[in-house]
Amino acid sequence: MLQSSPQGSPESHTGIHLESVTKSFGRGSAPVVALEKIDLQIADGEFVAVVGPSGCGKSTMMRLISRLTMPSTGRISVFGDTSDAPPHDMGIVFQAHVLLPWRTILDNVLFPADMTGQRRDDFKPKAFELLESVGLKDFAGSYPHELSGGMKQRAAIARALLLRPRLLLMDEPFGALDALTREQMRIDLEALWLTKRMTVVFITHSIDEAVLLADRVIVMTPRPGRVERILSVDMPRPRGLGARREAEFLEKSEEITDIFLSRGILQRH
Ligand SMILES: Nc1ncnc2c1ncn2[C@@H]1O[C@H](COP(=O)(O)OP(=O)(O)O)[C@@H](O)[C@H]1O
Ligand SMILES: [Mg+2]
Repeated sequence: MLQSSPQGSPESHTGIHLESVTKSFGRGSAPVVALEKIDLQIADGEFVAVVGPSGCGKSTMMRLISRLTMPSTGRISVFGDTSDAPPHDMGIVFQAHVLLPWRTILDNVLFPADMTGQRRDDFKPKAFELLESVGLKDFAGSYPHELSGGMKQRAAIARALLLRPRLLLMDEPFGALDALTREQMRIDLEALWLTKRMTVVFITHSIDEAVLLADRVIVMTPRPGRVERILSVDMPRPRGLGARREAEFLEKSEEITDIFLSRGILQRH
């Protein structure tokens, strides 16, 4: 469905559109330009990964899409909505799980219902279903301190999905986890996405994770962050563990590594 925006350009009511988005911090002679002229289109139901070095503006991009912060210039449309109000059909997962320590896992997952003034009882079946789908069925009554790091992050994912968001924003969600847990979380996230098919923007500094998870990988330049390259990844799903041996995985990871080498973000020796 297309509709004319006030500026007269056609605007889609699906997907996420960033048009010439720049974000600077501070004023005066030396503002920090975090993002510069970002043009990006993300389709409904697409799984997009954003990969780039620390400080290139990845979290800023996420905050812009979620409207926790406003762009300095440019336009952002989330499913056709260009207002300043935070989109309600969006779930966010951060690197730190930010579960409330005094609430049980079930009550943490139900938190978005409380926050939006909805009846928690209406959401209990959904909360149990989500806990089951992230492997935490038996931990509904546990408290966050009784869970491992991976389990807490699983609970945070369940919480983000409670209100059935169309958009799931994930900012280095597995960044604090050990390598094995991280691999399993990645495999399980793909399985979950295959059943729900929400739009996902997954921010990471892991090249492997980006290529293994995404339909498209957005490679960022160092600050000021710009889109350096966009790679499509067409490996069949579920990619699971085996995808690491696929030629396309090796090829695409190499391509991103080469970009980072040429930018001095990585060095060969
Ligand atoms: N609220 C802020 N005030 C000032 N500078 C900020 C703020 N948020 C981010 N920045 C700066 O913007 C740049 C990008 O930050 P960020 O988006 O957190 O990068 P990344 O998530 O890729 O590591 C950094 O130089 C950071 O210091
Ligand atoms: Mg960040």
